[in-house]
Amino acid sequence: MQIIVLGAAAGGGFPQWNCNCPNCAGLRAGTVRATARTQSSIIVGGDDGHDWALLNASPDILEQIRHTPALQPNRGLRDTGIASVLLVDGQIDHSTGLFMLRERGVPMPLWCTDPVYEDLTTGNPILKVLGHYCGVDRKPVPLDGTPFTLDKVAGVQFSAMPLTSKAAPYSPHRELSVDGDNIGLTLTDTASGRKVFYAPGLGARTPEVFAAMAAADCVMVDGTFWTNDEMIRMGLSKKTARDIGHLPQSGEGGMMDWLDELPKSVRKILIHINNTNPILDEDSPERAELTRRGIELAYDGMHITL
Ligand code: MLT
Ligand code: MN
Ligand code: ZN
Repeated sequence: MQIIVLGAAAGGGFPQWNCNCPNCAGLRAGTVRATARTQSSIIVGGDDGHDWALLNASPDILEQIRHTPALQPNRGLRDTGIASVLLVDGQIDHSTGLFMLRERGVPMPLWCTDPVYEDLTTGNPILKVLGHYCGVDRKPVPLDGTPFTLDKVAGVQFSAMPLTSKAAPYSPHRELSVDGDNIGLTLTDTASGRKVFYAPGLGARTPEVFAAMAAADCVMVDGTFWTNDEMIRMGLSKKTARDIGHLPQSGEGGMMDWLDELPKSVRKILIHINNTNPILDEDSPERAELTRRGIELAYDGMHITL
């Protein structure tokens, strides 16, 4: 199984267009040692090397495709390496890239849960709009862990579990979450049995999620915020990380504590990193702490082979 990170940042990307937080301003000015990142998306492929599953469709997808030769296999006058799309939620940063794929000649196979399908056909009716272009061939993601495979993506099996996180702000269930607003995915290489757990939006620890992480060879999990009150302290929001469905890395019961409890053999990677997060600064003490704990940061173009 191959994974390529297309975008490792949270909504807004890094630097964010209107942001002058220390990271964004420092990156622009060249005074902070950090790497720009586009918005949250990965691709997963199996044996053939040509047909990939797109996990989340970011608004930056066209730029991401330009930087990813694997997604343009050039087998015909019109071609793409994106064989299927799978969404973990209906957030803007994970779904609006679908509009950019509208020139497809045939409907896009699209896997999402029922609540996400509802959000993307009502509150933010992307899928209805797309019906006037290529259309989507929607397939429901089972929430009970039943394994499923994606069209043309050979050698990788998927399974989903509901997460405690948050639906998008436009969703009627933003403050009253339902199972399936957000999912965590286990990706299994069917030949080797090796597994990756992927959850870019993960708001709380549960025994089920911990078990899925402990059973994986590699976890790629919510790296949005360092502290719970990061956005409040910077004067950028009135909401905490937990309020918007993201478990912070630091503090008691934070993501670092959780990752420390995993078996030592598990590779630990943070993804969906918000531009305010001090870990983006390669010279920060927070980044040094992650390194000390053996936790990696995803970056655009990162390649993972399992
Ligand atoms: C989130 O994950 O909380 C969202 O990315 C926020 C956003 O897209 O504005
Ligand atoms: Mn997001
Ligand atoms: Zn910023």
